[in-house]
Amino acid sequence: MSSRRGSTSVVLPSGQTLPSYTRSSEDDDGLPHATKKKMADHLRKYEALFTLTPQRMRIIVEAFKESLELGLAKHGQVVPMIPTYVFGWPSGKETGNYLAVDLGGTNLRVCLVTLQGDGKFEITQSKYRLSEEQKQEDGQKLFDFCAECLKAFIDSNIEAGVIGQDQVLPLGFTFSYPCSQDRIDHGVLIRWTKGFGAPNTEGHDVVAMFRQSLAKYSVPADVVALTCDTTGTLIASHYVNPKTRIACIFGTGCNAAYMERVGDIPKIAQLGIDPNAEMAINCEWGAFDSFEHENLPRTKYDITIDETSNKPGEQAFEKLISGRYLGEILRLIICELIDEGVLFLGQNTYKIEIPYSFDTAFLSLMESDPTDELLMIIGIFSHFFALETTLAERQFFRALAKLVARRAARLSACGIAAIVSKMGYLEEGCCVGADGSLYNKYPMFAERIHEGLQDIFGEKGKNIVTYHAEDGSGIGSAIVAAMTKARRDAGIYPNL
Ligand code: GLC
Repeated sequence: MSSRRGSTSVVLPSGQTLPSYTRSSEDDDGLPHATKKKMADHLRKYEALFTLTPQRMRIIVEAFKESLELGLAKHGQVVPMIPTYVFGWPSGKETGNYLAVDLGGTNLRVCLVTLQGDGKFEITQSKYRLSEEQKQEDGQKLFDFCAECLKAFIDSNIEAGVIGQDQVLPLGFTFSYPCSQDRIDHGVLIRWTKGFGAPNTEGHDVVAMFRQSLAKYSVPADVVALTCDTTGTLIASHYVNPKTRIACIFGTGCNAAYMERVGDIPKIAQLGIDPNAEMAINCEWGAFDSFEHENLPRTKYDITIDETSNKPGEQAFEKLISGRYLGEILRLIICELIDEGVLFLGQNTYKIEIPYSFDTAFLSLMESDPTDELLMIIGIFSHFFALETTLAERQFFRALAKLVARRAARLSACGIAAIVSKMGYLEEGCCVGADGSLYNKYPMFAERIHEGLQDIFGEKGKNIVTYHAEDGSGIGSAIVAAMTKARRDAGIYPNL
């Protein structure tokens, strides 16, 4: 057994604490371990599986572009390209108090946003973690929970004198799942994503359901707009950085939004909107290549994840990229090598054999381990999985994490490139507001996207720059509510 002593500790997003180790002695634990040479041989195999060449990326971009066009042309396509009824960019002059409720993949957040104009704002918020049970129980109960949390939040703000007694505030509802919308305060859930499965919600108008819960708890809030986190991010980022043209989320899920000319959205031509008006499109690009699986380089690990998920066949692009799945991809590779007798012989491996036990945050920690001995990786394996590792194994795990995460970033670059190329943004260049745990916390994720864009476009790829976006689900949702109120008050498409 190696001799070790804990010193500091790292807190993971899940709230678990990981002690970090200061010393280790190698290869003297009497257990059979894989040698350096053997691990290097295995690594070559995985490199071949997970590496995306520039040429392959360009082929994916072309197929992606076609899917985007198809989604704009017809209803019910694989990539739904949802018209959001968010008309054009914010002026930056939006002002007032707004509530925002954000039902995300991991948390529920309720916010009070004060827009001060000139791209300035203030926000107060409360956050509640969603349990796995809540994600699977009846949909109306989930909205009841949202309403209850909002009520408690409003009450405490009334007590603090921030919200007036009889005030009914406009509310932006950020519901980040694909919903087809007939107008901005309506949205029929097409399908749950990110592991949600609450019954009696798919095929229903989630705004009507939420309104029912608000009425049940007598919550003084008026749902003005339904938005997705990407649309909110697009609007909030543009509010502070007008060069923004595209917004992406790389978190538990993966998606993008951008601004389109109404004339180029044939499927809503019958609404008679000025063709030169602009409308934000929520791409729901996580669905790219779903069902047919013709364009993306899926490995057998990706196929296992898909087939064992609650939504087989769906969200094919998202399953290769988002934080919900990257840890699981790595875990499946490790399990394969355990079964082949390559790793951890003589050790009890039941902990790492539990599906989804390998958090994507571990990959992030593994890649950022600054020590020669890879002490962080020792800590992860021994603390969470009760497994001893050699340096050769740890180097292998780190290299694997890099392969999996780099593929995710390069595929993300393909999605961005498809929008850039479709919209003709390459020459002039543009900014891409990006948010989500993967983008914000995973080391080198942004750099790898940028490298991918250059592989696709050459030097000109440098014209496309991603940056950490404003909080789209809170601020963005409030701005959308403000824009909607102003538009309707002015009688512009008041029924949309
Ligand atoms: C999933 C959702 C999408 C959301 C994304 C990021 O892909 O379907 O609506 O934007 O996750 O949260």
